[in-house]
Amino acid sequence: MHTFDCLYIFFTLVNLEVVARLDARTKKQRPGMAFPPSGQAEGKGYQVVISDMSLGGASLEGDLPPGDRLILEFAHEGQRIRLWAEILRTGQGGTAVRFLHQSKEEVLHLWSVLREDLKGGVEDDCPYCGEALHQERECPHCGLSRDFDRDGYLLEHLRRTVGQRLRWRLERLNADRLLSLLTFVDGQLLGDLGRGEQDEEFVGTCDGMLEVFSLIRKVAPTDIPVLILGESGTGKELSAKAIHERSQRQSKPFVVINCAAIPETLLEAELFGYERGAFTGAYTARKGKVEQAHGGTLFLDEIGDLPIGLQAKLLRFLEDGTVERIGSRRPRRVDVRIIAATNCDLEDEVRKGRFRQDLFYRLNAFTIQLPPLRERGKDKVVLANYFLKRLCKENGTRRKRFSDEALLAIGSYRWPGNVREMINKIRKALVVSKEETITPEDLSLEAPTPKPSPQGIKALKEKVEREGLLRALETTGYNISRTARLLGVSRPTVYNLMKRYGIS
Ligand SMILES: Nc1ncnc2c1ncn2[C@@H]1O[C@H](COP(=O)(O)OP(=O)(O)O)[C@@H](O)[C@H]1O
Ligand SMILES: [Mg+2]
Repeated sequence: MHTFDCLYIFFTLVNLEVVARLDARTKKQRPGMAFPPSGQAEGKGYQVVISDMSLGGASLEGDLPPGDRLILEFAHEGQRIRLWAEILRTGQGGTAVRFLHQSKEEVLHLWSVLREDLKGGVEDDCPYCGEALHQERECPHCGLSRDFDRDGYLLEHLRRTVGQRLRWRLERLNADRLLSLLTFVDGQLLGDLGRGEQDEEFVGTCDGMLEVFSLIRKVAPTDIPVLILGESGTGKELSAKAIHERSQRQSKPFVVINCAAIPETLLEAELFGYERGAFTGAYTARKGKVEQAHGGTLFLDEIGDLPIGLQAKLLRFLEDGTVERIGSRRPRRVDVRIIAATNCDLEDEVRKGRFRQDLFYRLNAFTIQLPPLRERGKDKVVLANYFLKRLCKENGTRRKRFSDEALLAIGSYRWPGNVREMINKIRKALVVSKEETITPEDLSLEAPTPKPSPQGIKALKEKVEREGLLRALETTGYNISRTARLLGVSRPTVYNLMKRYGIS
């Protein structure tokens, strides 16, 4: 929607009598006719004098048709102007009406009339606040401008006063309306904003993740290439984005290419681009991802899958900062920061001759290792609660919570698909769960049961006891009372068990 359309809609919605003070008023007296909304055709009009008119409304003197709505008509330069109006109040100075504008054109037409009136009166009082002025174009009292003739004056004026209009409107709402409005704004508008990728949170409280955050903060402001290692779904791409967003390059592109997802034959063109006619089908020249990332960051995902031939070409780029499009001999200088990621053991690939050692050393200047989710202790529960809240908000559904068994199951499951798997499981659970609480079954997780062991029964008991205690502590965020309740024992028992198993 065009800005003016937005403002127009807003203007008509918010345009209350009190707002008239934000709209320039002319004091010119005009003869006009007031018709009942249905009676205009039959000519049952009432003669009125229009005084004190603004875009928002006017004062009328004279008898008016019965009812609270009317059509006001007056002539201007041979044209008839008709406006729908609603009666606000009748007093000594006449009747105050507010205009119910029907279209943007109508607002603009009325403005052209008012502007003519206003232009003359540079000696007059401020048409907004009414304070005395001495030829100033901008009122020193209310700060509003009188440069009515300037191009775009009205739009500029509406823009400047929009906040004030809204505030006045809000001040008149009662507590109930205000609350429901706030809930709406929070849930719908801000919720939408929060959903945006930029606001994606990077959640982590365990030592492993705190270390990752610290490395990200350290390396982000530099231009050093970064190699991010970790299993699939552990947040490698999220880390790359976090580095980009904390770097000087944040306002420039963050370009992702997944080396495993693109067939080898197309990968070179994707990465380095091509000139027109470089191969059959190359009707126009195209920039590759490296050039697209100019000034910004290029994220090479699954770098272990980069074919050996392209490894040489990438190495050349890393060494001299230039790329050659396919079919071109002209090297182009490109300024890009490289972040690569992989879930395979690159050193092993090097040993097996599948990955160039010199490229490995180039990329490996700074390494960040993301721990698998199963090694993140209480973060499993922290993350699960975070995603549950986020997904409920995204779906616009009521808040749900995990049952204690579900939290235990989340804490003991091994999460081979890591965070991505967790998001998917919770998303599915939200669909299938009927109740307010989400059970292990909703998550397709089993409540944990101990496996038989060749050790003696005492050792087995202790092992189970220790694991159960740890899991309960992680689940409750090391809250002793809740842990005790969860395990069905007293608080002193929890303390004793912690002491026995050396948990602090
Ligand atoms: N610590 C975290 N906090 C919040 N969201 C996370 C976290 N780690 C991963 N995610 C989310 O999990 C999904 C998978 O992460 P991604 O970065 O694509 O993993 P990878 O690149 O390692 O496969 C993404 O939706 C990402 O936003
Ligand atoms: Mg990924």
